[in-house]
Amino acid sequence: MRIFVAIDIPAEIRQRIRDLTEALKPITARVRWSRAEALHVTLKFIGEISSTRTEEVKACLSPVRMLFPIPLKIRGSGYFPNDRSPRVIWLGIEAGTELANLAARVEESLVPLGIQKEERPFSPHLTLGRLRNPDKIPAVQEFLRQHDPLELGSFTAREFFLYESKLSPEGSQYQKLARFPLASEIPE
Ligand code: 2AM
Repeated sequence: MRIFVAIDIPAEIRQRIRDLTEALKPITARVRWSRAEALHVTLKFIGEISSTRTEEVKACLSPVRMLFPIPLKIRGSGYFPNDRSPRVIWLGIEAGTELANLAARVEESLVPLGIQKEERPFSPHLTLGRLRNPDKIPAVQEFLRQHDPLELGSFTAREFFLYESKLSPEGSQYQKLARFPLASEIPE
């Protein structure tokens, strides 16, 4: 199975992103827009792994904790690898160092299983869309420039999840396999 570790986003932010995507869709057919219900903040992509190993991944992730829940703000947009030859359109995430620390802890926890650390620095984002082919998208870029800085909302991450990604002709389907509380859960 193909698995990854990510933070889910709340329904109201999902809805704002859905509205944004609906506004962008008529502008170009060159972009495959992410389905809003599939959006998540990836902390670690693990890739193809057996179901036995997936159980080991769950065991490694379960002791990962931060002292406090992590506040996140979805703000701004940009392009991977860059704005001159975009392949991915992303929404930015502002979360200070705590989110990067969490991603580092998740990675560390998986090292005993032989899961390699990323060479690239952690770059938190939501993937808004992917170009179908390498191409220019000036009208999309102009739209996003005019709406800059996009403010899509803030939330506090209190948990993260292990997801399975199933590839299908309609795009990847993501299914939660396990939930991990981020900080000690104090009853209210
Ligand atoms: P993304 O957030 O930039 O789209 C499941 O595939 C998730 O893992 C995707 O959201 C994807 O990132 C992320 N991911 C990171 N590295 C990946 C890789 N090498 N292959 C596929 N997905 C990857």
